[in-house]
Amino acid sequence: MSDRQGESTRSVHLGTAPDVTTRAITTPLVQTAAYAFPDLATWRAVVAGETSGDVYSRNSHPTEQAFAHRMALLEGTDEAVTFATGMAAITGTLFALLRPGQKAIAVRDAYGATYLLFTQILPEFGIDCTVVDTNDDAVFAALSDGCDLLYLESPTNPTLKILDIEPLAAAAHDCGATVVVDSTFATPVNQLPHELGADLVLHSATKFLCGHGDALGGVVCGDAGRIARIDRFRELTGPSLDANSAFLLLRSLKTLGLRIERQNANAIAVAGFLERHPAVTRVHYPGIESHAGHSVARRQMRGFGGVLSFELAGGADAVEQVLPRLQLAHLAANLGQVETTVGPAALTSHVELSPAERAASGVPDHLVRYAVGIEDADDLIADLDQALAAE
Ligand SMILES: Cc1ncc(COP(=O)(O)O)c(C=O)c1O
Repeated sequence: MSDRQGESTRSVHLGTAPDVTTRAITTPLVQTAAYAFPDLATWRAVVAGETSGDVYSRNSHPTEQAFAHRMALLEGTDEAVTFATGMAAITGTLFALLRPGQKAIAVRDAYGATYLLFTQILPEFGIDCTVVDTNDDAVFAALSDGCDLLYLESPTNPTLKILDIEPLAAAAHDCGATVVVDSTFATPVNQLPHELGADLVLHSATKFLCGHGDALGGVVCGDAGRIARIDRFRELTGPSLDANSAFLLLRSLKTLGLRIERQNANAIAVAGFLERHPAVTRVHYPGIESHAGHSVARRQMRGFGGVLSFELAGGADAVEQVLPRLQLAHLAANLGQVETTVGPAALTSHVELSPAERAASGVPDHLVRYAVGIEDADDLIADLDQALAAE
C-alpha cells in the first residue's frame, strides 16, 4: 500500500495542527502590521534570526507563513514564498534570479501578462529572452544554445497545451539552467512538477488554490537557496501577501482535493458534450483523446483540470450571441472558482495583448475559455445546450 495519503486527506491535514496558544483548529488570522518585543535584546535576536518570530508584516507574518508551509508540503519542496498576486510571484522569481546578460527561454503560450514580461519588460533590463512555440521540440531546439532559466507553463492558459516537463527539465539542467513551471491550471492535486524535475513551481493562488474568488495571491515553491533569494527580493520590493488573503487561502486549501476532483470530472463531461455538438468546431482539453498533449498529460497528471476552451462554428459573432445566453456560467475574468466562469480568451488571459499579438500567439477572437465550477455536470451541460441551441 502506498504511504502517500489521498488528496483530500492531504488537503485537510498536511502541515496543520491546532494553534498552540488558543487550540483553535482553524489557523488564526493575525491582523497586525508589527510585533511588540519585551526588550531590545529579544528584538535584536529575532532580526538576526537567532530566535524565531516576526518583526514587520511586509517581511513575514504567521498566517502567510502557515500558507507557505502548507504549499511547500503539498508541492513536495523544501520551502515556499508567498506573494500578493500570481504576477507578483512570477515577476519576483524572474527578477530575483536573472541578471543582465543572462538568457531566459519561455513558451509563447504562457499567460498573457507573463508573455509580455518576457517580450517587453525583461529585455529592458538586459535579459536576453527567447520566446519559443509551445511544444517540446521547439523548447529542446532552443535549449541546444544554452540558457540560464527555462520557463514553462503546463497546461497553458487558454489553449491547454501540455509540455513534457520531465525530459525538458533534464535537458535544461544539462545546460545548468533553473527550471520554473507555472502549475496554476493543474494545482498540486493534479500535477507535481518538482517530482518531474522542476526547480521552482509557481501558482496564481487566486485561481484553484483559492477556489472561492474572494482573494488574490501567488506562491513559489522550491529549494531553500532559490526561495531565500526570491524572498529577499519580495521583502525589499514589498508585494507581500496580506494576512486576510492568507487566511482565506488556508481556508480554501482544506477543500482543494474535493474541489479539484469535482472540477476534473465536470470538465471531462463538458468537454465530451462540446466535442459532439455541431455548433462547436474544436475543443481544447487535455482529457480528450484528440488533444495533442493527451498521452503526456495522462502520464504526468493525475487529473486533467477544470479549464477547457472551445471554438464556435459561427466565429466571433456566435461568441457574442452564445455567452450572454449562459445562465449558470458567470461572464468573468477569473477561473478555478466554485462557480463556473466563461469569457472570450481575448477578454481574459490575453486581454493585455494587441489583436496582432493575440493572433501570433494562436488565440483567435472566437476562442472561448470555460472554467468549470463545482455545480452538477448535468446542469452545466443543460445550460450549454440551451445557449448553443439557436446556433
Ligand atoms: C496560468 C496563470 N499564471 C499566472 C496568472 C496571474 O495571476 P494573478 O492574476 O493572480 O496575478 C494567471 C492569471 O490568470 C494565470 O492564469
